[in-house]
Amino acid sequence: LPQYPIREKCKELMLTEEQLRQIMKTFHHELLLGLGKKTHDNATVKCFVTYVQDLPTGRETGKFLALDLGGTNFRVLLIELSENHFEMKSKIFAIPQHIMLGSGEQLFDHIADCLAKFMKEENIMKEKLALGFTFSFPLKQLGLTKGILKSWTKGFNCSGVVGNDVVQLLRDAIKRRGDINLHIFAILNDTTGTLMSCAWKNHSCKIGLIIGTGSNACYVEKQKNAELFDEPDGGSGNVLINTEWGAFGDNGTLDFLRTQYDKTIDQNSINPGQQLFEKMISGMYMGELVRLALERFTKEGLLFGGKGSDLLFSKGRFYTKYVSEIESDYSGVYTNCREILEELGLKHASEQDCVNVRFVCECVSRRAAHLVSAALVTLLNKMDEPHVTVGIDGSVYRFHPHFHNLMMEKISQLINPHLKFDLMLSEDGSGRGAALVAACASGKSR
Ligand code: BG6
Ligand code: GLC
Repeated sequence: LPQYPIREKCKELMLTEEQLRQIMKTFHHELLLGLGKKTHDNATVKCFVTYVQDLPTGRETGKFLALDLGGTNFRVLLIELSENHFEMKSKIFAIPQHIMLGSGEQLFDHIADCLAKFMKEENIMKEKLALGFTFSFPLKQLGLTKGILKSWTKGFNCSGVVGNDVVQLLRDAIKRRGDINLHIFAILNDTTGTLMSCAWKNHSCKIGLIIGTGSNACYVEKQKNAELFDEPDGGSGNVLINTEWGAFGDNGTLDFLRTQYDKTIDQNSINPGQQLFEKMISGMYMGELVRLALERFTKEGLLFGGKGSDLLFSKGRFYTKYVSEIESDYSGVYTNCREILEELGLKHASEQDCVNVRFVCECVSRRAAHLVSAALVTLLNKMDEPHVTVGIDGSVYRFHPHFHNLMMEKISQLINPHLKFDLMLSEDGSGRGAALVAACASGKSR
């Protein structure tokens, strides 16, 4: 068992069922504000209309390019769709820090450069392919190929992009080079890409969820509820909504449970006051939340005999993957935990320190899983469909050993009892989803 004072001080990280139900209620209210015509502009949870109305049938065909920007990796992909079958080639390119924080022009020139390199290698410079662009940031979409960036999130902050149409910025960069031939048919969020990709295989998939560097979800909403979507009827009667739930709480609604660690994370971030829900959950922040708690307990003399290390006291040095690794140790064994503590220069850790460190990791990851579950259940209850599959991607869900189980348990407890759900890991990333949206848009689907 963890030592009593640490257990006591970690209580603020443990959310009761009552608190989670309160969060569900508030989140539902915020969703309605985002969807409403009159309330949207001031809403924190934006509920952007994606202009994607139809889920894939599995009969889409053709050869497509895709870009996937905004997760851990930037990817360029080439995807060939045939009936119920697909082939995919992809290459990861680095986005150096100075570009993530540089000018928009530099960013889009870099993207176009990677695209050109990939197309040369694949020998497709001469084919005029359709491209789907997964761009995982809050976009106010004005059509399938027009999206205005509202704000940067996660580690990006390029100047001159907010307020502009990202598709146009990419087109401009392509034009500046003059050597690439392609047609951009769609811009989409990674949640949309994940949903499309999973729905291609599984027709009950109606929610796309990311728990990775950031966190967000999109879902199938009835067209009549999406007041800002004023396309003529005639489609499926539905439209995908990108909730951008990472910004939930930015108007103070989560202040009743934000801890000193959450506040410090926010203050030290490049976007203070923004993405407060995301900062309690996602991979970009989870390790740092743990580190801040460990730093505090060490300074209070409750850990490591009161003696920390430079690394333990340095921002960003407790990686989120450590949380997954520490919680992957069998119960009562601390092999990974010791290795990580040694890496951090804490060779003098006792068995009790390991117990405590693991406990702090569990509290932080469990809280994240519970918060995501509360928001997800709100969507499931709102949709009120008898059975919904949730397609999920992202490093936290993929690599944390207990995240899936924690979510299954909590969702089952909170969901309206007549509803059934599944959580499905997206195998192939959002690239195939981008190709599917481009396929529909380019009219190549049957
Ligand atoms: C990838 C998707 O698999 O997961 C991306 O292709 C998505 O579109 C990413 O952004 C999210 O996970 P992470 O952990 O890389 O942020
Ligand atoms: C951030 C982005 C959002 C994205 C999510 C997951 O919250 O704003 O668009 O879907 O991260 O990558």
